[in-house]
Amino acid sequence: MTTIPQPPDILSPAFEADPYSAYRVLREHYPLFRDPGSGSYLISRYEDVQRAFREPVFTTDSYAWQIEPVHGGRTLPQMSGREHAVRRALVAPAFRGKDLREKFLPVIERNARELIDAFRDAGETDLVARFATRFPINVIVDMLGLDRADHDRFHAWYGAVVDFFANLAQDPVVTATGLRTSGELTAYLHPIIQERRAAPGDDLLSALCTAEIDGTRMTDQDITAFVSLLLAAGGETTDKAIAGIFRNLLAHPDQLAAVRADRGLVPAAIVETLRYSPPVHMIMRQPAADVTLSGGTVPAGSTVICLIGAANRDERRYARAEAFDIFRTEIAASHAFSAAADHVAFGLGRHFCVGALLAKTEVEVGVNQLLDAFPGMDFADGTAPSEAGVFTRGPRRLPVRLTPRGGRG
Ligand code: HEM
Repeated sequence: MTTIPQPPDILSPAFEADPYSAYRVLREHYPLFRDPGSGSYLISRYEDVQRAFREPVFTTDSYAWQIEPVHGGRTLPQMSGREHAVRRALVAPAFRGKDLREKFLPVIERNARELIDAFRDAGETDLVARFATRFPINVIVDMLGLDRADHDRFHAWYGAVVDFFANLAQDPVVTATGLRTSGELTAYLHPIIQERRAAPGDDLLSALCTAEIDGTRMTDQDITAFVSLLLAAGGETTDKAIAGIFRNLLAHPDQLAAVRADRGLVPAAIVETLRYSPPVHMIMRQPAADVTLSGGTVPAGSTVICLIGAANRDERRYARAEAFDIFRTEIAASHAFSAAADHVAFGLGRHFCVGALLAKTEVEVGVNQLLDAFPGMDFADGTAPSEAGVFTRGPRRLPVRLTPRGGRG
């Protein structure tokens, strides 16, 4: 007689230590599971998660309590219909095409170079502390045209915003720190917004200050909330993607050697990292009506947690789903950064990550510059560091031993 395993507890240390085994149990035995701790419904199969992202019946109303308080206002993920389409059209051009190539690529390249210069001859470094957590946030601060001397302040703020967003256990200290951060960011940004309204520059913040939507401008609070969103949505995620790709490649030396030999494989390595170890593991939705999925019906108004990390390893969708393989053919790198993607790391549908191409560019530049700078790179501790986090997830530390170009191996 085969026994059915117990359902996992998503708030338990065991789940955080190894969510992937729990995802397997959920996909197989509890494809729709009402989690008693949070009262939310967990969905884990690719088919169900992609429906939750694509079908409008799954609203994003839960962001009203999940992120609005910490951003101090309504932001894109929470919006729907025309309001969402108009706001998204306003910001999307900065994150793709000509603006990305001509205006922001040099900013991305400079920031990567400056960070690498600081440990080029160190022999050993923690890639998370010295590179991954710094690089994307520095890029956003520069894109917004804010003071580079404030990079460290933004680094602390984004940490507090992200912790608020991932506070499944409702820790009151985390909540209070997030709300205090929101106040500090508002006090910092409002005078700068006044200056940019009066004398706009060529930066993203000026673009937000001067843009007109249906004849009205974004208020100071709208802009502050959006900047706060960008810090979290564009910082934390890309940071985990960079740490993840190095962790995965260093753990698979044959695939790392292939990428070193043919840099055309970098996009495939990014996509496989996003599938295998996605930076964002949980996204919530709130169905406006009862919806039937694998395993039963989700009632209208309930909270559904879409388990991206589970869907991306669904063996119904991918062959050898639990293996890291940059050569897999089920995912086309050509559209992996568009809403037609064959994975759910960026969501899908109308809220598909607006920063996906910016993220791809950042990770690609970061990987290429690091591989160029260090012909030799290994885990300093001899093994891959473990991942941490249940909402967003990645290694907390990634100590590496480095052989610089021209150095002795
Ligand atoms: C590898 C890096 C990234 C990952 C894994 C990621 C993941 C995601 C996911 C899963 C969503 C969908 C949220 C939902 O459907 O509720 C999303 C949306 C979003 N992302 Fe990203 N993201 C990344 C990088 C970025 C960057 C660099 C930016 C901008 C600087 C950004 C800005 C946004 C925004 C503004 C949205 C909301 C879009 C909307 O609601 O229309 N993201 N992202």
